[in-house]
Amino acid sequence: MLHIPVMLKEISDHLLPHLLAQKEPRYLDGTLGRGGHLGYFLSTVPKLRAIAFDQDPEAIAYAKTEFSKEIYEGRLELVHGNFASYNSEIHGAYDAGLVDLGVSSPQLDQGHRGFSFIHDGPLDMRMNSMTGETAADVINNYDEEDLITIFKKYGEIFKPYRVTRAIVHDRREKPFQTTLQLAGLIERVDGWRKKGFHPATQYFMALRLYVNQELQSVEQGIPALLHGLRSKGRLSVLTFHSLEDRIVKYLFRESDLGAPVNKKVLVPSEQEEKSNSRSRSAKLRTFERDGE
Ligand SMILES: C[S@@+](CC[C@H](N)C(=O)[O-])C[C@H]1O[C@@H](n2cnc3c(N)ncnc32)[C@H](O)[C@@H]1O
Repeated sequence: MLHIPVMLKEISDHLLPHLLAQKEPRYLDGTLGRGGHLGYFLSTVPKLRAIAFDQDPEAIAYAKTEFSKEIYEGRLELVHGNFASYNSEIHGAYDAGLVDLGVSSPQLDQGHRGFSFIHDGPLDMRMNSMTGETAADVINNYDEEDLITIFKKYGEIFKPYRVTRAIVHDRREKPFQTTLQLAGLIERVDGWRKKGFHPATQYFMALRLYVNQELQSVEQGIPALLHGLRSKGRLSVLTFHSLEDRIVKYLFRESDLGAPVNKKVLVPSEQEEKSNSRSRSAKLRTFERDGE
């Protein structure tokens, strides 16, 4: 259940020199998770002060214990909420920041969170378990057409028709309540086509993105975060989904506040991909704000 921070070296290469050059460096973490990246920066930059967001109450509760010393010393402020709610006037400007999108290993591995097609649990998938529709609400109540749109748009599934038809048929008899109930149906209808790639992967990804409105958070949150950067400040964004990467690429290119640091997107080294399978689809982009 350990979460290994993805592309830590590349992110550090982009952000650390600028943080070390500041008298009073401030770091923003939009997606705290288990605090892997945050912990690295707090321990490497002694004078660093940081603010970290996570919409998952379990991530905030974990960080309260893990970083109790830094919180006590006034070096770390935790915000339970979506990074899209960031407002520079309320939360303050910063010198370097990271948004590491998607789910953390503990979220994926704990059946009770409802993200996993391997470990059984309630069909939930909400990062913020205190609000919003669950995946079960969507699967049991949405029209067939709406489900097809979600699977096509967010899962990039070319032909989700047979699975969607089977969902709508089966739910009349027995509403979907657990992750394995849904994963089992997808396996039955679609079968295994690619070795090592569970047939439910794209369907679960689509539901997760929809339930948590993940693309909308990126569209709304990244422009606000760019506004909060101090002069020459940098924001790195790690994505794990091509639609998210496309939005980030566009927002960075089109912003009149600064420019992307690299022309080409960065991906993990072969060695990292081998040692941490969750890094496999990662893409890293960094933006630098113009100097004053
Ligand atoms: C991939 S993990 C981050 C891992 C972290 N960088 C680390 O090294 O431990 C993503 C985390 O971001 C949170 N998250 C995802 N989207 C979010 C959003 N829009 N606002 C706030 N938190 C979000 C998830 O709940 C999850 O805990």
